Amino acid sequence: MQSGEPREVAAAAMVADGRLLLAQRVAPPELAGMWELPGGKVEPGETPADGLRRELVEELGVRTAVGGRVGADVPLPNGMVLRAYRVTLLDGEPTALEHSAVRWVGPAELTAADLVPNDRAWLPDLLAMLSVE
Ligand code: CDP
Repeated sequence: MQSGEPREVAAAAMVADGRLLLAQRVAPPELAGMWELPGGKVEPGETPADGLRRELVEELGVRTAVGGRVGADVPLPNGMVLRAYRVTLLDGEPTALEHSAVRWVGPAELTAADLVPNDRAWLPDLLAMLSVE
């Protein structure tokens, strides 16, 4: 790539009524059954917000608005960088179209959830976000 910026994976910290949306992965085998913030790879030519909105239509069937960053960059072993963004639900009920399940969690359930290792780093930021909603 021309740009020095690594390709980005954008993930959604979607909060409604004081709860955060988690999605359960189906693959790869070592992550299947674990919970993540939904999202995916931003394609060349897309802004991170565009890419994340597209992924959330594909994965959850919902229309969203993407806001500011949450938590730190997480470098991925494939050279990409994982970033989380605040997301507001505009239209639709999140449905597991590419995950095995979705669920809304409060602080206690979030703390107890079996999060994918990459997303676990954001736990303090996500809890702080829930406490000020
Ligand atoms: O859907 P797409 O193929 O664009 O992306 P993905 O396979 O869902 O995610 C790309 C990479 O980011 C994988 O290595 C995922 O494990 C990782 N990822 C993550 O660690 N945490 C998330 N919340 C979302 C993706």
